[in-house]
Amino acid sequence: MREVVLETPGDFAEWRNAARRLLADGVPPADVSWRDGGEGASLFGDAAAAASGEKISLPRELVEIADRAICHRDAETPARLYRIVWRALRDRQLLARTTDADVDWLRKADKAIRRDIHKMHAFVRFRRLGEAAARESFAAWFEPSHRILRLAAPFFQRRFYGMDWAILTPDARAIWQDERLSYGPGGTKGEVPDRDIVEDQWRTYYGAIFNPARVKIDAMRSEMPKKYWRNLPEAQDIAPLLAGAEARVERMREAAVSMANPLTDKWRTRVRDEPTLTDEIETLAGLGRALDRCTRCPLHCDATQAVGGEGPKAARIMLVGEQPGDREDLEGKPFVGPAGQLLNEVLYDAGLERRRLFLTNAVKHFKFEPRGKRRLHQNPTTAEIDICRWWLDQERRLVQPEVIVTLGASALRGVTGKSASIRSMRGTVHELAGGTKMIATIHPSFLLRLPDRARAEKERQAFVADLALARKLVA
Ligand code: URA
Repeated sequence: MREVVLETPGDFAEWRNAARRLLADGVPPADVSWRDGGEGASLFGDAAAAASGEKISLPRELVEIADRAICHRDAETPARLYRIVWRALRDRQLLARTTDADVDWLRKADKAIRRDIHKMHAFVRFRRLGEAAARESFAAWFEPSHRILRLAAPFFQRRFYGMDWAILTPDARAIWQDERLSYGPGGTKGEVPDRDIVEDQWRTYYGAIFNPARVKIDAMRSEMPKKYWRNLPEAQDIAPLLAGAEARVERMREAAVSMANPLTDKWRTRVRDEPTLTDEIETLAGLGRALDRCTRCPLHCDATQAVGGEGPKAARIMLVGEQPGDREDLEGKPFVGPAGQLLNEVLYDAGLERRRLFLTNAVKHFKFEPRGKRRLHQNPTTAEIDICRWWLDQERRLVQPEVIVTLGASALRGVTGKSASIRSMRGTVHELAGGTKMIATIHPSFLLRLPDRARAEKERQAFVADLALARKLVA
């Protein structure tokens, strides 16, 4: 029996190094005992530097899921993941076996982690510590269900780049100081001040966005479960706001006619201001940073983040989708959810390598409608696509693809600026201004929605043929 002690539970690099060594020595999962050392010695980084063992080739999707799933608090997690990796090396289709108990566990664990990250992004509240060398510093206390700090911290780094901050959790702390992200040992709630002036701003903000006419207590509980309430300044206002809801609705009804809609007004002004080209926007990374700040339409208000394109600047083919979905919104990358998985398969069949393509969307923020625990995708309007075209145009200018493939009607509108049916445009290579070629085809999620297997297979073949045509055009 081989015993493996993990110093920082939840550290993917440390677990991966141990797994590589075991695989190199041919140790079967049943002969390994995994134990938490809990010393926190590796704390996200040291183990990665000391990578050892043979490199192993696993499906990229499995590596990405394992990177998240290792954060699951279930004590069996390292052992389960090792068993899954061991099996995946012998069965390349393992992840597609949805009835397999290991795969089922893996998918559920992944979902729980993604949900936990989403909650952490939404519910961390910073308290001001002070100011030094013209930089303000803040601290927050948060108790995630799983060990997700490593996965959640980059979001705060992007969002709160200009201030110093620390997020303390019972397992570890993330520190953003002098524009460097580092990790340290877990902390206690007592290390963070229990209130400050920002707190009152949160409460005012919450009171302002609380809509008494749309009170859905179950939905509220599911979006903001009670376990988070004790660390949320605005939670103490929930009861009084609920109690006064009926009277406020009455007052709103009376005032309705003359009331302005600040969101719509803000949108109108923004849209009139064309964004300006700055030096920052001369690189894809700079474009991404500028996009992070986009407030040109109201979609930015509810989305977690803007999702820009991904791929090499020298890509010869650009694929344009509609808009990020739920997974893309959380991960900040295009086509990583179910439609993206299907797209990967279809690209493979068409002889295209995803890493050589530039993948992007017509609209950069996720548009959705909350429904209980879920966020349901909503089609962007023509106006939203047209407003967002500025960003797509910048991506086109920087990448200068030879061929653009539009996936679905929104993408077609985003690229051409005109509404046309896919049927009328499909099967022909179009030429855009500047000589770029364009192929119009379906969106992968269309295939996901087809109930008829035979029809779905026929549509899939046609989709593969459209993508293969793009490959031939640059061959
Ligand atoms: N659908 C899209 O159009 N784009 C994505 O990035 C994901 C799903």
